[in-house]
Amino acid sequence: MDTIKENAYAKLNLTLDITGAREDGYHDMVMVMQTISLHDELEIEITGDGSVTASANLAFIPGDERNLAVKAAKLFFERAGINDGARIKMDKKIPVGAGMAGGSSDAAAVLRALNRYYGSPLSQEEMMELAGGTGSDVAFCYMGGTALAKGRGEVLTPLKSIPECQFVVAKPQFSIATPELFKAIDKMKLRVHPDTDGILKAIDEGNLVEISRRMYNVFEDVPDRRMKTTAEIKSRLLEAGALGAIMTGTGSAVFGIFAPDSETAPLRAELEKEYGFACEARKAN
Ligand code: C5P
Repeated sequence: MDTIKENAYAKLNLTLDITGAREDGYHDMVMVMQTISLHDELEIEITGDGSVTASANLAFIPGDERNLAVKAAKLFFERAGINDGARIKMDKKIPVGAGMAGGSSDAAAVLRALNRYYGSPLSQEEMMELAGGTGSDVAFCYMGGTALAKGRGEVLTPLKSIPECQFVVAKPQFSIATPELFKAIDKMKLRVHPDTDGILKAIDEGNLVEISRRMYNVFEDVPDRRMKTTAEIKSRLLEAGALGAIMTGTGSAVFGIFAPDSETAPLRAELEKEYGFACEARKAN
């Protein structure tokens, strides 16, 4: 019985814009996404028994198809015409319900690992399509790096890597359910949108200050009392010298970008003590 190891990296949204509601129930988005070094560790046992299951170091993570990693493995076997099975063991380090694509990243890692293990039966294009069909953020997680995401989030344009920097991420105890926040957005008129063209120019020029200054997430404008806590974390990051700070995805995690040589360990420790989770991270591919 073979075991494959694969890391699943978290993402942060440098921008998040919603440009409209679609007829298929989804929303059209425009987002700049960044992979970071914080990652889950996966072990995939090839079982040959035709079933796919998952288990994690967190008891509340489902082991069946509600788990995107299980869904991804089943779709891969089906699409590649391979009659095999897998037991996925996940050591989760990415907080759940944080807007950091933890579940999507696990699914993307399973797709990467399985296609490699079987000698690439599916092309890069087929894999990207499979990833996009697994979940809106899975395609970006499959590709990694820095990218502009449109459509549901699955239409991707790779971007120049952002300059070296230090991220500090903190997550309050509560999580925010993605569909819930999209429903709230439908009931309001968005007045402020991120300057996507501006941040794309700043990325192209490799200007960290201008990138950080243009970070914006429209979900922060949802009138929800939980945003008081995320705003509080933002203030803490900015007071500590962050060049910019926003909530990622549908939250509840908030992050700040600091200059690469910043000493952020004390801040991380403080935020962890106060909010329950905090980490330092670097950009990753
Ligand atoms: O695609 P995924 O299953 O990750 O999406 C979860 C939920 O988030 C969807 O059911 C939908 O309510 C919402 N969503 C959306 N528009 C997107 C992505 C997600 O409305 N672009």
